[in-house]
Amino acid sequence: TLVRNPIEAWPAEVYEKELVRIATLGRERVFVLSPPLVQQVLLDEADAFVKSEAMLRALRPALGEALLTADGERWRWQRRAVAPVFRPDRLRGFVPAMLAAAGAAAARWRALPDGTEVELTEEMARLTFAIIVETMLSGEGLDGADRIDPARVAAGLKASLDPVGWVVALSLLGAPEWTPYPGRLRARRARRYLRGVLGRLVAARRARAEAGAGAGRDDLLGLLLRARDPETGRALADRDVVDNLVTFVTAGHETTALALCWTLFLLARHPGAEARVLAEIAAVTGGGALLPEHLDRLAYTRQVLQESMRLYPPAAVLTRTADRPVRIGGEAVAPGTPVFVPIYALHRHRALWDDPDRFDPDRFAAAAAAARHRFAYLPFGGGPRLCIGAGFAMLEAVAILATLLPAARLSPPPGFSPALRLRVTLRPAPGLPMRLSRREG
Ligand code: HEM
Repeated sequence: TLVRNPIEAWPAEVYEKELVRIATLGRERVFVLSPPLVQQVLLDEADAFVKSEAMLRALRPALGEALLTADGERWRWQRRAVAPVFRPDRLRGFVPAMLAAAGAAAARWRALPDGTEVELTEEMARLTFAIIVETMLSGEGLDGADRIDPARVAAGLKASLDPVGWVVALSLLGAPEWTPYPGRLRARRARRYLRGVLGRLVAARRARAEAGAGAGRDDLLGLLLRARDPETGRALADRDVVDNLVTFVTAGHETTALALCWTLFLLARHPGAEARVLAEIAAVTGGGALLPEHLDRLAYTRQVLQESMRLYPPAAVLTRTADRPVRIGGEAVAPGTPVFVPIYALHRHRALWDDPDRFDPDRFAAAAAAARHRFAYLPFGGGPRLCIGAGFAMLEAVAILATLLPAARLSPPPGFSPALRLRVTLRPAPGLPMRLSRREG
């Protein structure tokens, strides 16, 4: 179970206690489960922890030392430099690309014969992938001289992330880095392809900028090339830009896709909530096209996404390593100890949530949400390492949901109940088959 599904290997206490220590083969791990203690790890004493060694060993070959995978000063200056790229005013510029891609998917769904079955995790991953590539490169990579082949990149990303479970398990077991594991060579080839294409695109754009033409584009690539750390004036080198672009593709597209999958799955099972979402969309758009300015007004739709990410947080566990001796909840934790915030368990913890397994979007109505501890609900993490793409992801998810839901009714095959598989992200296994049919009226 360690490799296949870590959630099943978590002891039952993680849903009841504030702190759980587990020793596997003599190696201790600490799970932190009360909001104040989570706050201590992620915020108050964040500098006593680094990203987990196991996770870095799995991700650094693909992502380098960019935002997600750097620590210390190297992380700090990059975060300061890149933060403005994800400010709300910038994000608004990406909404038309989100709506266009969602609209194209809706049109495709509408054209399918009634009863067609689609595999939702693939459908959603293709859509969010198209959006992240478009917002990164504004079309350049897709039909420019150095064409990005989306299918090849998507397959490559999958190949490069598939073995992550193995790498993490081997690392937790103390195996040396050269230990072979399944998929290792394929992962390496996939990474080379992706980094190669992006590297050439970055160099080409930089060269044009220096020749005084066209760096001004406000896509993520253009913004990263112009980003500066306000404190030191430091800019990102080409390699840092590539690492961060690969990071955005990796951290940003599958997570958002899974949030949408689980949401559509939950709505298919909860017709009352689905009817409320559809009514809200109709009221806000007046039955016409969904426009960028509508997104902020879809409050209940947003609540549904939040509740779905409570039950199925796409990033289901945060992993750290204690960097110095610390005390958590009165317990001594030695340097080098893996410290986990199992978000999935926190979000279903009996001390924090009433009837935790029940789907109820009203938990995120403004008053109820305000009464809750800030570190009880963490789909995007918390503290200084909070997801930099949280605003991007929420805009994108609302835009896609509000475009696709009115386009078709989705029904899982009768009796279908997906299993959970945690591999960096929380996926339905064996995927999420859905039958599409027209909505009447
Ligand atoms: C970090 C979740 C979408 C880029 C994180 C973290 C979480 C998370 C939990 C914190 C990891 C930790 O503390 O160890 C999610 C979820 C998403 C999503 C659930 C979608 C529903 C995105 C998008 C982007 C993105 C769209 C970029 C376009 C990043 C980056 C970091 C990060 C760069 C590292 C930030 C840092 O350490 O400074 N994400 N994310 N994410 N996310 Fe996201």
